[in-house]
Amino acid sequence: MPQPDNSATAGDTAKESDVRRIAIFDTTLRDGEQAPGFSMTTAHKLAIAHSLADLRVDVMEAGFAAASPGDAKAIAEVAAQVTGPVICSLARTKAGDIEAAHRALEASDNNRLHLFIGTSPLHREAKLRLTRDQVLSEIERSISSSKGQFGQIEFSAEDAIRTERDFLIEALQVAADAGADVLNVPDTVGYTSPEEMYELFRDLCANIKRQDHVVFSTHCHNDLGMAVANSLAAVRGGAGQIECSINGIGERAGNCALEEVVMALKTRADHYRADTGIRTQGLYAASGLLAESTGNAPPRNKAVVGRNAFAHEAGIHQHGMLANRETYEIMEPSDVGVPSTLVLGKHSGKHALRARLEGLGYDIGDNRMETVFAQFKTLADTKREVTDNDLVALIEGEDVANIWHLVRAELRTGTKATANPTAKLVVDHRDRGRLSAIGHGTGPFEALSDAFCIVAEVEGTLDSIDAHQLSREMDIEVGLTVAGEKVRGRSQHTDVIVAAAEALLAAFNNHARKTNAAQQSAAEEAPVA
Ligand code: KIV
Ligand code: ZN
Repeated sequence: MPQPDNSATAGDTAKESDVRRIAIFDTTLRDGEQAPGFSMTTAHKLAIAHSLADLRVDVMEAGFAAASPGDAKAIAEVAAQVTGPVICSLARTKAGDIEAAHRALEASDNNRLHLFIGTSPLHREAKLRLTRDQVLSEIERSISSSKGQFGQIEFSAEDAIRTERDFLIEALQVAADAGADVLNVPDTVGYTSPEEMYELFRDLCANIKRQDHVVFSTHCHNDLGMAVANSLAAVRGGAGQIECSINGIGERAGNCALEEVVMALKTRADHYRADTGIRTQGLYAASGLLAESTGNAPPRNKAVVGRNAFAHEAGIHQHGMLANRETYEIMEPSDVGVPSTLVLGKHSGKHALRARLEGLGYDIGDNRMETVFAQFKTLADTKREVTDNDLVALIEGEDVANIWHLVRAELRTGTKATANPTAKLVVDHRDRGRLSAIGHGTGPFEALSDAFCIVAEVEGTLDSIDAHQLSREMDIEVGLTVAGEKVRGRSQHTDVIVAAAEALLAAFNNHARKTNAAQQSAAEEAPVA
């Protein structure tokens, strides 16, 4: 792991050439997972852990071993199977917690113990019932006794921000003297401001005597919406590690969002003179995997990974974007792994329509463009978003674009455990005529997707359903794996059932079109006998 840098030259006085390497400590699987509504199975945790390793986070907090046998098991599996990042477990200063962390992390020779104790008067008096001296001796004892048992030791002064400054410095000095490699300064309740954070880190860096490799770390909660700004201020003040989580999940309003803080450092390297080792092209996929695993998609307008983060609909914006992306974009969507960006709707102009058609392989002349543009505007007046599927239908005519047509879908489900969600589907296929099937699943949409697979005679699974309410309409996007290929389909309707059925239909039409195109090009390439 490259050594993070919290040298005293950090901040405003950094020289032009000094770009500091900031370590990214991810706590999605610990602080994130402990938040209500975000719990994950061990299988989900492992999948997320692999995606965090692909992102190249420096440290991954895999859980809190003493919290439950399930947490300990998940940490042990991550430690055994995931290589690259340092694998870490949280622990209180109690001997039992340290032993549980040790057992869980045994399989990794690249591990870290993360010890914490509350240092603020509120935590000392109301929660722990310990005096200042007792807290200091807990810190000293727990670190000295763990030294040598783990690759690295991190110490966190919980509620550091509301701790008296002299006592915070004393506690962190005891931790550094006892051998802690990382000194974490959490804003446990999301109370501080960027200005205070900057000043605090300058003070700590200047006044705590430590070995050269010892790093200051920031851990910010988002109660006032300032977790990312506060973490960035800590970096300017001298922090060498940022604790954060994918999509900003965590206790209450969450933690500093990894994707936001990483992209802020990258995009504004001129200002922060700092960078991370994160492979940013994996951010969008990691965010999507977490959303699927927890059933919580980030809001549409979420910075960096939200569905609208790179969407441009207004005609003037689209025109500017097509002339030069930088008119309205400060990051390349591909830098964070976001696929297509322009949303076609009633505000879109001819430039945007032509660009999308070219992307779909249609290079049409100016006269035809006039007609298609007029048809597009009429369609856009009735729909919020014109999809690729709609455009193919405009150019090719309904029949070529859509191999499948929906005749009827009926869903049956219920709230009782004995209810067996069932879908009856009737469709017309361009060549095979009318077909029907009954599908089953754990829910009505899975049952409907099963029915589609039966009529299409393919193996398939419903991987994701993304549903948003848009004023009166439901906007549904489905993701499926059909015959081993990932396909998506999208539709909007005031009735959720119709929207879901049409989204599935669009996905199956996309799949059929892809399969036909592949068969055609294989036939064209086949040698003539
Ligand atoms: O918010 C907090 O203080 C924590 C510590 C355990 C690091 O999550
Ligand atoms: Zn926290």
